[in-house]
Amino acid sequence: MSGSLIAFPTETVYGLGADASNADAVARIYQVKGRPADHPLIVHIAAMDDMDLWAKDIPTYAIALARDFWPGPMTLVLNRDESAKDFITGGQESVGLRVPAHAIALGLLGAFKKLGGKGIAAPSANRFGQVSPTTANAVEEEIQDFLLSTDLILDGGQALVGVESTIIDCTQNAPQILRPGAITQQMIEESTQLKVANITDASIRVSGSLENHYSPKAHVVLGAMAEAGEGFIALASITTPKGAVRLASPKTIDDYARVLYLALREADAQGLSKIAVIEPEGDGLAIAIRDRLLRASRGR
Ligand code: TXA
Ligand code: MG
Repeated sequence: MSGSLIAFPTETVYGLGADASNADAVARIYQVKGRPADHPLIVHIAAMDDMDLWAKDIPTYAIALARDFWPGPMTLVLNRDESAKDFITGGQESVGLRVPAHAIALGLLGAFKKLGGKGIAAPSANRFGQVSPTTANAVEEEIQDFLLSTDLILDGGQALVGVESTIIDCTQNAPQILRPGAITQQMIEESTQLKVANITDASIRVSGSLENHYSPKAHVVLGAMAEAGEGFIALASITTPKGAVRLASPKTIDDYARVLYLALREADAQGLSKIAVIEPEGDGLAIAIRDRLLRASRGR
């Protein structure tokens, strides 16, 4: 990898990867994304055994989570080991780790490990503040212009989950959810036998918590039916208002998460100025979908 960037598929969204031990390579991630340098990056590792390469004082409940949900759509924030430098953690004393559940991502991580690599730092492969890419095509749209000929984009088809991993702070006595995702509060509580706090407080320094995140160019309006000429996203059971542009008709909540970002991109591709969205109700993944939609609706 030697300093180059590699965009790769994961089950959640596509990541823009660099050797997590190489400061220059990681600096290029920030450059390509146009992201402020004090935002921490998730280090992707090949297996749970590699947690120790990056983290120390790992609590028992975090081990339980790793056992139950890795490889999978979950990031654990742990006390950093000295190998997790400031250019990874944004100067924080914690580091985010994830083992993705995707054959290509795991193949890449395994091959990198054989060459002596410890982990691949990868944010979502979008420009700062934009919608995360869930296809290789979307990655190209976002960052192709900023890549060098020595960088690479791997195509693994459409991401299966479609929204970013659940981020769980494991630096306290009990886990706290910093970003909701496909690994739900109930799953975490069952795994750890602990009560889980759900922190979606914008004061916490998670870049995904910044208000202008996950935003398409079109204005996203929640809980409203679309007027003629406007984009419309809702479960398939809800009929398209007359003259509206149907951007997605997911049949299930899982489906909703999978197609959401593509639908937001499609609105921009069609040059729509407004997207009316009927959010899914309920717990589990629906919470993550509403979280991203709320942020999208506040954008720009
Ligand atoms: O599903 C995902 O997590 C995708 C794929 C590529 O793995 N990655 C992703 O990365 O969404 P990114 O950088 O777009 O979002 C990661 C979030 C950021 O908001 C960052 O602030 C937060 O994780 N984060 C990373 N390390 C952290 C830490 N030590 N403490 C708190 N938040 C952290
Ligand atoms: Mg992101």
